[in-house]
Amino acid sequence: MTDWVGRQGEGSTEPVTVELPTVADTKDFGRRLAAVLRAGDLLILDGPLGAGKTALAQGIAAGLGVRGAVTSPTFVIARVHQPDPQIGGRLPLVHVDAYRLSGIAEVNDLDLDTSLEDAVTVIEWGEGKVEQLSDVHLIVRLRRRDDETRAAELVGIGGDWRHRLERLGVGS
Ligand SMILES: Nc1ncnc2c1ncn2[C@@H]1O[C@H](COP(=O)(O)OP(=O)(O)OP(=O)(O)O)[C@@H](O)[C@H]1O
Ligand SMILES: [Mg+2]
Repeated sequence: MTDWVGRQGEGSTEPVTVELPTVADTKDFGRRLAAVLRAGDLLILDGPLGAGKTALAQGIAAGLGVRGAVTSPTFVIARVHQPDPQIGGRLPLVHVDAYRLSGIAEVNDLDLDTSLEDAVTVIEWGEGKVEQLSDVHLIVRLRRRDDETRAAELVGIGGDWRHRLERLGVGS
């Protein structure tokens, strides 16, 4: 994984908030987000325990059309889900839980059987740890409200995230 070269960024987007009243909304948003993803993308999911990071990753997995159940990788730090062409899958999903990782070196040391250049990488608990993997990334901060609804704050860093968030209908 050390061959993943960060690309030059073009500034960051203003934070935009997406309301996610139910877990179905969170998964559906993940599915829609998947439609604007491409090989080499890095998504950093943040937010407290039970915020919905894995639920969002499950929606992304469904949208990407990958194989295998996406679960909270409590015992496994990272999992690669291969695309299933029969359901329109085109890109592998690398799902990482960085909770017990201290930084990028350990992510690079994960012996994954895919290159991050060729996959979409979604890292839970990655904020402040893995940004250097790529100058271009999307930060998704999930917030858990008192009434148990959720909201996601999105910040695109570099690349064409501004354009892609607009295409998603959440651009500022
Ligand atoms: N709007 C919502 N979005 C997402 N999850 C929700 C929502 N409302 C309720 N939930 C529930 O909250 C839980 C979210 O769990 P999930 O594993 O996705 O969180 P997580 O952020 O990955 O937690 P962890 O930090 O343990 O990895 C699920 O049980 C889900 O059903
Ligand atoms: Mg999780």
